[in-house]
Amino acid sequence: MSAIESVLIENRVFPPSEALVKAARISGMAGYEALCAEAEKDFTGFWGRLARENLTWDKPFTRVLDESAKPFYKWFDDGMLNASVNCLDRHMGTPVENKTAIIFEADDGAVTQVTYKQLLARVCQFANALKAHGVQKGDRVLIYMPMTIEGVVAMQACARLGAIHSVVFGGFSAKALQERIIDGGAVAVVTANYQMRGGKELPLKAIVDEALAMGGCESIRNVFVYERSASACPMQAGRDKTFAEVLKGQPTECAPVSVEAEHPLYILYTSGSTGKPKGVQHSTGGYLLQAKLTMDWSFDLQPSDVFWCTADIGWVTGHTYCTYGPLAAGATEIVFEGIPTFPDAGRFWQMIERHKCSVFYTAPTAIRSLIKAAETHDAVHPRHSNLSSLRIIGSVGEPINPEAWMWYYKNVGGERCPIIDTYWQTETGAHMINPLPGATPLVPGSCTLPLPGIFPAIVDETGHEMPNGTGGMLVYKKPWPSMVRTIWGDPERFKKTYFPEEMKGYYLAGDGAVRSADRGYFRVTGRIDDVLNVSGHRLGTMEVESALVAKTDLVAEAAVVARPDELTGEAICAFVVLKRSLPHGAEADKIAKELRDWVAKEIGPIAKPKDIRFGENLPKTRSGKIMRRLLRSLAKGEAITQDTSTLENPAILDQLGQTH
Ligand code: WT7
Repeated sequence: MSAIESVLIENRVFPPSEALVKAARISGMAGYEALCAEAEKDFTGFWGRLARENLTWDKPFTRVLDESAKPFYKWFDDGMLNASVNCLDRHMGTPVENKTAIIFEADDGAVTQVTYKQLLARVCQFANALKAHGVQKGDRVLIYMPMTIEGVVAMQACARLGAIHSVVFGGFSAKALQERIIDGGAVAVVTANYQMRGGKELPLKAIVDEALAMGGCESIRNVFVYERSASACPMQAGRDKTFAEVLKGQPTECAPVSVEAEHPLYILYTSGSTGKPKGVQHSTGGYLLQAKLTMDWSFDLQPSDVFWCTADIGWVTGHTYCTYGPLAAGATEIVFEGIPTFPDAGRFWQMIERHKCSVFYTAPTAIRSLIKAAETHDAVHPRHSNLSSLRIIGSVGEPINPEAWMWYYKNVGGERCPIIDTYWQTETGAHMINPLPGATPLVPGSCTLPLPGIFPAIVDETGHEMPNGTGGMLVYKKPWPSMVRTIWGDPERFKKTYFPEEMKGYYLAGDGAVRSADRGYFRVTGRIDDVLNVSGHRLGTMEVESALVAKTDLVAEAAVVARPDELTGEAICAFVVLKRSLPHGAEADKIAKELRDWVAKEIGPIAKPKDIRFGENLPKTRSGKIMRRLLRSLAKGEAITQDTSTLENPAILDQLGQTH
């Protein structure tokens, strides 16, 4: 059964409890519809009101939306503010001042807590250290840090100075790091000597050194090294400094730099349909507004909540729901350094109990792997932990299959917590389509309805809207405050990718979706471009192909497709033509391993192809185009139904059917 058919027959509906409806910030469908109606009636009035109510402005804006240079929209552009003020200073002198901002649990289980007041002091100190090294408004600072309080501090310190951070996930390779340093023209790197994951000490600083040694990174003046572990790491005199060194003597107050609402808050690289990752540029005002607002709306944040988003700060989910949203909303949040399976696969459930977590937000891939772990080893089943503190549970990053949804609902949410399946993207900055805890009846596997002020639609290739029950491409008809502003250094690519002509000015998300015939609920069926989603991580097929063919001594040609995978959602399947004769048996396995290690070095371990298949050629059309649909069928192990009469050498289908 296709995904589209299954959404049309999914008839389990879970309405919110009466108690939740009563107590929620947005109460019942009437509350939701009232906000939607307000946005419909007076679009700019709606966003203007929310921006005034939710953010602290140094200089109030007089214009909400400037469309004169669309699709380069500007929001609140004559207003001025500072993001770190809105996350920290804003709470001083209120009861939040002495509230715990971050509960940090290290890989080894050690717990550290900081209050808002303490966090502000630490952010100021580090901002002063950056300033002392010449970092100023508009400079790019590359952050390559583990999940730690210091990671959040580094991001907030940049924001305090108006410096633009570019966080790179700690799992990316030296090569990926070097590309991002060069593309962004960063002046400094903030890193740690090591990161602790699953009881292992993994190098970070050494990878930075490797990246800088590759050349082209002359813009980097300093490398700041947080001493996460006691082990030494190489330091280059003059350039590299430890946190202890640079923080010494720095005051715990630092005047924030007020910036224009459109001033870039950060760049975050994400994969697209070409080999080169794009630097998604976000603004200060509009981004922060929706980061804060979605904490209140999607998670119905209450003052007593303990919020936990399990994402890494290296991804947009970590930016919006670890660094900016929870702090702007004055929440207590958990920051977790480690991995869900260490010391055992009950870690998440034990941590929920330990910290009395009430709002838990994770990815379907994590849920699926923990289901499997609990099925094979009962001791790590969530039933052995007291999860009664939970009131809301969320999902993000990829479609959640109804089976995983039901397990999560029953075993983690105790059939009392709504699952907030949040559909959004790096480019949208914040949640776009998801249920509201105290309003929306839930349907497993559906992200339900758009947030107020968001106007999605499903269209065909010519931009015409499709009736409910018919699949198509997901677009947004109107801009929104936290939308991507441009691709760093490549405005043309921004226009071409997100606002292609045939879409009539609508933003093209790159996902396929269908609305249910009865409720008009959205269900996202997956990417319609050459983007893969492996464990909720986004990768381009071209990116992996480029990495493979860069191994010039071995690889002649490569094509990469996605195939469904029970655990990771999608898995990477690479079809490779070697520059030598077709390998067999142990030799083929050896070469496959060599190629996987190579891709890990080029991009990062997350990009390693799960399946590698060798052939003497790739299936091509007469005009020489690779028949990707056929490759997708081969990857899935499906019977070939496509016309293969144009293939010069049909034997390659047998060759390419063998996985290594
Ligand atoms: C792509 C964006 C959302 C932040 C983390 C990933 C897929 C994301 C869902 C969901 C179905 C989803 C889409 C989207 N996706 N959330 N709830 N249901 N699909 O951000 O790396 O920019 O990836 O992830 O395909 O386009 P990202």
